[in-house]
Order: sequence, then C-alpha cells, then structure tokens
Amino acid sequence: MIIARSVSELRSALDTCKGGIGFVPTMGALHIGHRTLIDAARKENECVVVSIFVNPTQFLPGEDLSKYPRKEEADFKICELSGVDILFYPDVSAMYGEDEVRICAPDIRGYILEGTSRPGHFDGVLTVVMKLLNMVRPSRVYFGKKDAQQLALITQMCQNFFMNIEIVPMETVRESDGLALSSRNAYLNPIERQEALKLSAALKCATKMLMQGNTKSTEIKGAMEAILEPLDVEYVAVVNRAFELIDEVVIGDTIVLVAARVGMTRLIDNVWM
Ligand code: PAJ
Repeated sequence: MIIARSVSELRSALDTCKGGIGFVPTMGALHIGHRTLIDAARKENECVVVSIFVNPTQFLPGEDLSKYPRKEEADFKICELSGVDILFYPDVSAMYGEDEVRICAPDIRGYILEGTSRPGHFDGVLTVVMKLLNMVRPSRVYFGKKDAQQLALITQMCQNFFMNIEIVPMETVRESDGLALSSRNAYLNPIERQEALKLSAALKCATKMLMQGNTKSTEIKGAMEAILEPLDVEYVAVVNRAFELIDEVVIGDTIVLVAARVGMTRLIDNVWM
C-alpha cells in the first residue's frame, strides 16, 4: 500500500494504477461500515484508493472538529489488510489554500434536515468531495446510505457539474442490537450507548407501521417521537429519494430519517423504504 500525504505523491501513486479506480472517501476512525465500502471497491475495481481527511470546512464552530477521533495507526492497518492500493492522507494545507472558490449546497435540499441543524455543513462536504474526486478521478466512488442527505447532495453535485463518475450507495452496517456504526459512537458512555438504541428502534417501528399498511408520515413520525423520548430530537422526517418532504410513504421512493442528541453526542440514522 502506498501512503500519499501530498497531492503530488497521490498523482505519482495514481500513475502506477492500471485500470479503473474505486474510491472511498472517509474521515478515518475506520469501522466495519467503512470496511464494507472498501471491500466493495476492492471487488469491483482494479485499483482502490481510500482517503482519510478530517475536513475542517464541514464542521461548524463549536462542533467536534478538535476531538473527532483520530486513529492513524489502526486506520493504516485496516486499509493495508483490506487490500487498499493507495491511502491518501493529506494535512489541511495540502487540501486548502487561502480565499478559495467553494461549492455551495443547493438552497432547499442543502438547508433542510441536516442543513437546518448544521447550516453550511454541506458546503464543506461538497467542496472537499469535489476536490477529492478531481484529484483521484475514480470510475466509481462509494458512499454509505447512513449519510443519506450527503449521498443525495453528492449525487446531485455530480449531475449538476456533469461529472462522469458512478456513485455506489452502500447499505448501513449496524451492531447486532441495531445501532448504526459511526465514528461518533466512540463518544458514548455505556448508559448513552443503551439510550442510542432508541434511534434504530424508532426506525424499526416506522418499518413495522408501513408493513401494517400505515403510510401517513405524521402518524409514523408521531410513533417514532414517542419511542425517542426523552432524547433531544433534532428532527424526524419522511422524504422521497430526491429529498423532498412527503406526507405519504411511497414504497421504493422513501427515506425515514432521525437525528437526535444522546448526551452531548449527535447521532443520525435512517431507513430506506
Ligand atoms: P465518514 O463519516 O468517515 O464516512 C465515510 C463513508 O462511510 C461515508 O460514505 C459514510 O456514509 C460511510 N459510513 C459511515 N458509517 C457507515 C455505516 N454504519 N454503514 C455504511 N457506511 C457508513 O462521510 C464522511 O466521512 C465525510 O463527510 C466525507 C464524505 C469523507 C467528506 O469529508
């Protein structure tokens, strides 16, 4: 595995790649969720590139940028054992200069749900993903459905900017008790870890209601909110795949989402219906 820390090192490493590139962008503290993306990239492409970069522009003032988990040694091992060809591990100065052009999230889809709770977050995500995609020039790029709005906005960016890259959405990987894997789960103490199960329990309830024929968004949201109590819920929402809020679930075109704070830790989860 080649570890590239600058753009020029990345370019030289990419010159050694023969065939199509599968790319997995991450912020590190790798877990099995990230591993499934890397494994899929390994199966489907000649060359696999992973990036690890805790992107400062997607953190709002007061968020967890400085304490975001950083696990360089373990991450390098995981990448090596997963058969990654090139690990791109830049520092901030390799990625950003002064007074730069930035990508802006769309006014509506970029500013509902996560965009309301974290205004400007998606500008930072889209800007760094644009940079990374331009550097790596993959044929396929892998993203998790766990970050559904991020996935939708990156897909839209690639369409709006006529970028010829296949986006591969990957299923959310969960612990055996239902908790969606997340680097931020490391912040949870044992009691909070138990409380955090309310997110997946609420989503299970949504699925059950739909299976029983209840397609009304307000009823599904009401039942979910009851399960989530007493957590500090930021939103419970029902959207279509284009990320428009909908009153009625349409099977095959719906995502039910939840964001809540468990103690100081902000968690998100969703189910695709
Ligand atoms: P990060 O949170 O490290 O996630 C990297 C990728 O792993 C994302 O596509 C995310 O959706 C996926 N992922 C996270 N948890 C998952 C799980 N439980 N199951 C399946 N996939 C999961 O998302 C980011 O980093 C950043 O915003 C990034 C896109 C790298 C831009 O900085």
